[in-house]
Amino acid sequence: MIGCGYLGTSHAVGMAQLGHDVIALDIDEDKIAALSACELPFYEPGLGELLRKNVESGRLRFTTSYDEIAGADVHFVCVGTPQLAGSFNADLRWVESAFAELARRLTEPAVIVGRSTVPVGTARRMADLVRGHTGRVEVAWNPEFLREGRAVEDTLQPARLVFGVESPQAERLLRAVYRPIIEDGCPVVVGDYATAELVKVSANAFLATKISFINAIAQICEATGADVLRIAEALGHDVRIGRDFLGPGLGFGGGCLPKDIRALYACAADLGLADVATLIRQIDVVNTSRRERAFAVGRELLGGSYAEKRVCVLGAAFKPNTDDVRDSPALAVAVAAHEAGARVVVHDPVAMESARRVHPEIEYADTVLMAARDADVIMLLTEWTDFADIDPVQLSGVVRCRNMLDGRNALTPERWRSAGWTYRA
Ligand code: UDX
Repeated sequence: MIGCGYLGTSHAVGMAQLGHDVIALDIDEDKIAALSACELPFYEPGLGELLRKNVESGRLRFTTSYDEIAGADVHFVCVGTPQLAGSFNADLRWVESAFAELARRLTEPAVIVGRSTVPVGTARRMADLVRGHTGRVEVAWNPEFLREGRAVEDTLQPARLVFGVESPQAERLLRAVYRPIIEDGCPVVVGDYATAELVKVSANAFLATKISFINAIAQICEATGADVLRIAEALGHDVRIGRDFLGPGLGFGGGCLPKDIRALYACAADLGLADVATLIRQIDVVNTSRRERAFAVGRELLGGSYAEKRVCVLGAAFKPNTDDVRDSPALAVAVAAHEAGARVVVHDPVAMESARRVHPEIEYADTVLMAARDADVIMLLTEWTDFADIDPVQLSGVVRCRNMLDGRNALTPERWRSAGWTYRA
């Protein structure tokens, strides 16, 4: 396994759990020291126990040296492909260096399997790069579909496996690696490199489209008085549509959906497909506008200005059950309120440390009640289940003004209104 970020660590643990002998590499020495001591460098329910179990059984170990991994039969490349600064394209430097480092060292027949999310055409380029060094190593692409907070389940019981291969041998080898999962009934879709690469971005773009679509309908609901939650419920009963990812609110963030949709936009634009590019671009535009709308509703609740007001933000992670704050809609609104002159205090059950690292200018509080003290408005921006249980009567005792902005439709409005709160969602 090359790359011990979120994806690589989950996959390394998952492959060891399937019974394989796994060695995982990262160039970050601190990360490797932590993982070798069975400490996860991020929050992920259930993964820590499996890490410990597989390290202790000897099936999983970690290294910083490419020489140590050169003898493997299969190499999974799981490095990050963040958005390139100043562009919509993905930054491929880590993928390119992983393939180059491997290709220089491999002398025995092996398969290098890309799992990172990449623009279409990358696998072909990596195959050419590897062939320049050795003819005995093949390249395959096997995109991941991990959701943060459900990494164990998504690794061991994935909804599907996708193999982009150029030879029956590579397909056979991937089927052997995943045998227990395939025997459990997991569907396998086999195609060429470009197809496998596009499956991943298409899946994320479609999920993003569902979210932006329901948020577009939410805007029409706000203007007409219709109830978007009822609409989502009714749409969801149609099996062709489905209820998942029709959750209206502050929209999507995280390390995947935003960057993947931008990379797909850049791809469509490069191909000269102007209409397609416009469609994909608008999904991102609608999504970002939800953050601005939440900020504006907060300002209305505060009587027209954030200046000198005290704002309590509940939630910092980009979604519940993770400590990941990359492109977090919650933090974006918190920072906007801070920049508009408010004193902002944030509480999150697990993401406060990661949030503080990126935004030390904001205040953080260890409990909801501490964060809410003397607040002029409470903004619930990440729907941790704990927040749904907050007692509006108890909270009334600590705030200055009973204003609730529910950015995720996570609360029961009647409960808050009957306790004297002005509730907006
Ligand atoms: C996503 C994909 O689901 C996963 O398959 C892929 O491998 C990586 O990207 P992840 O980024 O972990 O996973 O989060 P996901 O659960 O998909 O949520 C993405 C964002 O959409 C979050 O910010 C979430 O709050 C938001 N969202 C989700 C909504 O706003 N409404 C919804 O109805 C669902």
